Amino acid sequence: MRQHRLALCKEHYLEWVPEQTERFIKKYEMFSRNEKILVAVSGGKDSLSLWDILVNLGYQADGLYLGLGIDGGIDYSHESQRLTEKFASERNLKLHVVDIEKEYGQSIPVLSMISHRGQGKPCAVCGLAKRHEMNRIARDLGYDVLATGHNLDDEAAVLFGNTLVWDSERLLRQGPVLPSAEGLARKVKPLCRFYEREMTAYAIASGIEYIYEECPFAEGSQSIYYKELLNQMETTRPGAKLTFYLRFLEARKSGELFIEKNVEAAHLHPCPKCGQPTSTDDLCSFCRMIEKAALVTG
Ligand code: AMP
Ligand code: FES
Ligand code: ZN
Repeated sequence: MRQHRLALCKEHYLEWVPEQTERFIKKYEMFSRNEKILVAVSGGKDSLSLWDILVNLGYQADGLYLGLGIDGGIDYSHESQRLTEKFASERNLKLHVVDIEKEYGQSIPVLSMISHRGQGKPCAVCGLAKRHEMNRIARDLGYDVLATGHNLDDEAAVLFGNTLVWDSERLLRQGPVLPSAEGLARKVKPLCRFYEREMTAYAIASGIEYIYEECPFAEGSQSIYYKELLNQMETTRPGAKLTFYLRFLEARKSGELFIEKNVEAAHLHPCPKCGQPTSTDDLCSFCRMIEKAALVTG
């Protein structure tokens, strides 16, 4: 790990990653051992490793898998669900599985065709549905906190995108912890300081079976483009990605960079249908999408 000037053997690496995770959980005050954690697991290396680490550290962590109905020629959703269920049953862990199509009548690709969000790519609709469902399920099942497997590469790419257009509202909301608000579960990203390749190494070294393929719709996406740019920088300046993210967190915390404004209080009110907070005047964007889909498909 050039960025840390550190080289570890397999045995010590498998100790180092959980120790660091525990350090980040404490540093950013993510959660305690008394709290119930819902880990959103996609079947990929990051979220399965996160679940593995949290359980081994003695946290009360259950899993949530969302069936998105994405095939893309590689049976992406079925395979990721199979691996997630296998991981849970081998370790005797509690996994909630929620299928979007069964729940709302349409799969993500179909919802995307109907709603015109994201010009033919379902990623925008998928992101909206995932956020909505993760929050709904965490809230309905009484979890204290929702954890996702976002790693440093994910976070740096989002930060880079938001910085390019100086999206101050998004910048103020980005961080390892998003506190709970009326109707919104606390969200945490315990892996946000690990490089993607560090998580790959952890998953492989600990024998976790995960889906290697990315979502088939991710190809050519903006976030992959930003990740490539950041990786080019990282090659010549080891640690550039980590510094970019950590210095942002410091600046945000000290209020150096932004005129403080209260984003949380941005006139949210409960959606009349699902009750989750929304800034739109009537139904939240997700419920509007579902209503529209129901109209179109009868
Ligand atoms: P992505 O948005 O695909 O980069 O995934 C980011 C994080 O969201 C993952 O690390 C998981 O924690 C969560 N996630 C993504 N897809 C799913 C899914 N189908 N079910 C549950 N959680 C998911
Ligand atoms: Fe949702 Fe790819 S479109 S994971
Ligand atoms: Zn709603």
